[in-house]
Amino acid sequence: MEVTFEKVQEALSFVIEPDLKKDIISLNLVSNIEFQDGTIRFDLKISNPAMHNRKRMEEACEHHLKRVIGQSIKVEANVSAMPKAHERAPEHRTMLPNLKHIIAIASGKGGVGKSTVAANFAAGLAQKGYKVGLVDADIYGPSVPAMFDVSKEKPSTETIDGKEYIKPVENYGVKMLSIGFFSTPDQAVVWRGPMATKALTQLFGDANWGELDFMIVDLPPGTGDVHLTLVQQIPLSGAVVVSTPQEIALVDVRKALGMFSLPQINVPVLGLVENMAYFTPEELPNNKYYIFGEGGAKDLAERMSINYLGEIPLVQSIREAGDVGRPAVLQGDSLQAKAFNQVIDNTLKALNIKV
Ligand SMILES: Nc1ncnc2c1ncn2[C@@H]1O[C@H](COP(=O)(O)OP(=O)(O)OP(=O)(O)O)[C@@H](O)[C@H]1O
Ligand SMILES: [Mg+2]
Repeated sequence: MEVTFEKVQEALSFVIEPDLKKDIISLNLVSNIEFQDGTIRFDLKISNPAMHNRKRMEEACEHHLKRVIGQSIKVEANVSAMPKAHERAPEHRTMLPNLKHIIAIASGKGGVGKSTVAANFAAGLAQKGYKVGLVDADIYGPSVPAMFDVSKEKPSTETIDGKEYIKPVENYGVKMLSIGFFSTPDQAVVWRGPMATKALTQLFGDANWGELDFMIVDLPPGTGDVHLTLVQQIPLSGAVVVSTPQEIALVDVRKALGMFSLPQINVPVLGLVENMAYFTPEELPNNKYYIFGEGGAKDLAERMSINYLGEIPLVQSIREAGDVGRPAVLQGDSLQAKAFNQVIDNTLKALNIKV
């Protein structure tokens, strides 16, 4: 039988990647297919390159190629490990190659201050002189527009090389997009499942972000479906997990960590931020009251072998800054600005960036 590229692909589409539970052709794991002197050669990426896994995959490929094409052919599969998300360097990415570091801000539980951390992270990085973008991926309660005082803005579009792009809204040196710009609050409910994912991926792919040092993504709370698809589709460099000190919030941190370590997601967790760690009256900044207990998040981070990125106090001006639309990190060298900057610096260190 004649060996064609299509036949090889057809045969290999019967081989299932054991971790990702889909065939290796639709997962796009096979490349450089060649046929010469009776031998089919190709490269194959798998998620777990342990010896016995490699062997099993080689055998499965050989079995199906011989079955479909003929028993006389020889098969040489060059099996290697799939790059982890953070090893997918921008120059190798086809999606979003102009964004150097894409960092998701996540939490297991709602209301812990994820958007507040995301907004301050983005504004703080811009303040340090980096080129920064921010995507509000919270389809249920987009809050970035309000936190940057741009709720009334409508992103315009611009045409580049005949293709139309969304132009991000900008304030405090941060370029941002949010589903909130495209829907009214009562519309937000209709964004579900695949539609939501599509709309979200468009905020990344169909917008003119230009070159960015950092893209911060404010994820919706929890670990739902929209979440999973998004973190699989966007080439994230890492995730920062936010929690409050309560035991109940810390339990949910484990769920978030579990999601990022799934083989098909495989995003490194850069560390844990403890928000509302302690209360401090603005006029007595040296008095720290650990109302929800002290040290819980730090201990958890240690037990789970992740970085502890720092604590953010519970202070009225952080809430007020969010409400008036000017992130607290921009308040000179106040206690709150220092706390956010400390978290940012620790995250940069986790990314091996000099601070
Ligand atoms: N450290 C803090 N000090 C004072 N107020 C805070 C602090 N962090 C967050 N807040 C306030 O708590 C409320 C919830 O914060 P935020 O919206 O950032 O949480 P979230 O985790 O994004 O919530 P959701 O799950 O709904 O998206 C907001 O009013 C915010 O201003
Ligand atoms: Mg939020």
